[in-house]
Amino acid sequence: MSGVGSGYPLTRQPIDLGQHLQLKNRVYFAPMGIDLARDGCLTDDMFAFYRGIVEGGCAMVVLANSAIDATTRLHEGGLCLYEEKHAEHLAPLIDYGRQHACPVVVQLQHYGSQGDLARSGGAMLAPSRLPGKRQPGVRVMTHEDARIVCNQFGSAARLAQQAGARAVQLQASNGYLLSSFLSPYSNRRIDRYGGSPLRRARLLLEVIEAIAEATQGGVDISVRLGIDDCLGDKGQQPALLEQVVPALERAGISALMCSAAIRETFHYMLKADPKVHALLVHGVRHIRELTALPVGFAGFTGSLAQAEALLDLGVADLVGMSRALFADNDLVNKSLSGKANSVNACRFDGNCFRDKSNPNLDRVYCCVNDKYKRPDSIRYD
Ligand SMILES: Cc1cc2nc3c(=O)[nH]c(=O)nc-3n(C[C@H](O)[C@H](O)[C@H](O)COP(=O)(O)O)c2cc1C
Ligand code: SF4
Repeated sequence: MSGVGSGYPLTRQPIDLGQHLQLKNRVYFAPMGIDLARDGCLTDDMFAFYRGIVEGGCAMVVLANSAIDATTRLHEGGLCLYEEKHAEHLAPLIDYGRQHACPVVVQLQHYGSQGDLARSGGAMLAPSRLPGKRQPGVRVMTHEDARIVCNQFGSAARLAQQAGARAVQLQASNGYLLSSFLSPYSNRRIDRYGGSPLRRARLLLEVIEAIAEATQGGVDISVRLGIDDCLGDKGQQPALLEQVVPALERAGISALMCSAAIRETFHYMLKADPKVHALLVHGVRHIRELTALPVGFAGFTGSLAQAEALLDLGVADLVGMSRALFADNDLVNKSLSGKANSVNACRFDGNCFRDKSNPNLDRVYCCVNDKYKRPDSIRYD
């Protein structure tokens, strides 16, 4: 394999994302909620975790899910971004990323109907009700709710900007509020927010506008786009996004980072499966054909050789890795310096995902990385 300074020529190429981010290579840490925050604030443990990722050689870190309001939180250890103290705790990490040529992007999240019922005050927002399903605490959004949500996203983006961020990412995948509006599975509305792909995208477009206004264009806005619900014809699919992607580009976003699956189909993302990988590859390539924006791929990329192959095939402009960089923070540096053989490989067993819903755990661990070793008492089949 390659020596220092050679090998992985496409991965090594810098790329600009929007007006504010210059990335030194094509690999980024895709958002991964490890649940180490306290009271919604970044902690020393969390800082240490991201320091490891920043120092490992990737070009950008996307900080997982920052809840934009107290009524939309999920995990106790999740980040929040609706009070000054949240921004104050975030600032040192954003500064650290900047100093180490690894910009930190803040992902903004409204959990919608997948939030926490108790914290939501009994009103988890959704575009519509799912026929035949009991959905306790779910409330169909009114136009006034949409206005409030746009303001919440705008305020959260302003707090991110105050913390020094030059870019935010909207979580519009995995069945949370923005993606639930985009998908025909969860959005059965017939008003201005539903009925066609473009109308289903209206809330996302209004949120983008609200952020641009609140930050006076001072932060780049990327979108984590759920391109496939993995429900076949019943759900979101790349073909349904053919008008939506150009509309997002016209709205001025800086990049599209693709994701797939929703709560009902999340098992597809647990373990590496060639069929799911192929669906992702075809889907992301299709999205890339619809736009001149940089497009990111994420899903089961376990090595820089695989990232290079995805770039070479023209599937995406950037490759996100979550689990592989969790398993070995130094994967990028090791590989670029000719030491790919010493990478501590992710098993893609999905156990870190399982930690998130394990009632006996309040954070995420890894099977192969001693720094984040799961307690021996916790075993999965
Ligand atoms: C423990 C865990 C937490 C995650 N949290 C988030 C999140 O907060 N936001 C998000 O957009 N994706 C999240 N993801 C999805 C990842 O960004 C990524 O799309 C997925 O894990 C597939 O990439 P990988 O195979 O490189 O891990 C999470 C994944 C894992 C394993
Ligand atoms: S827990 Fe398993 S799937 Fe998750 S990062 Fe570690 S080895 Fe990979």
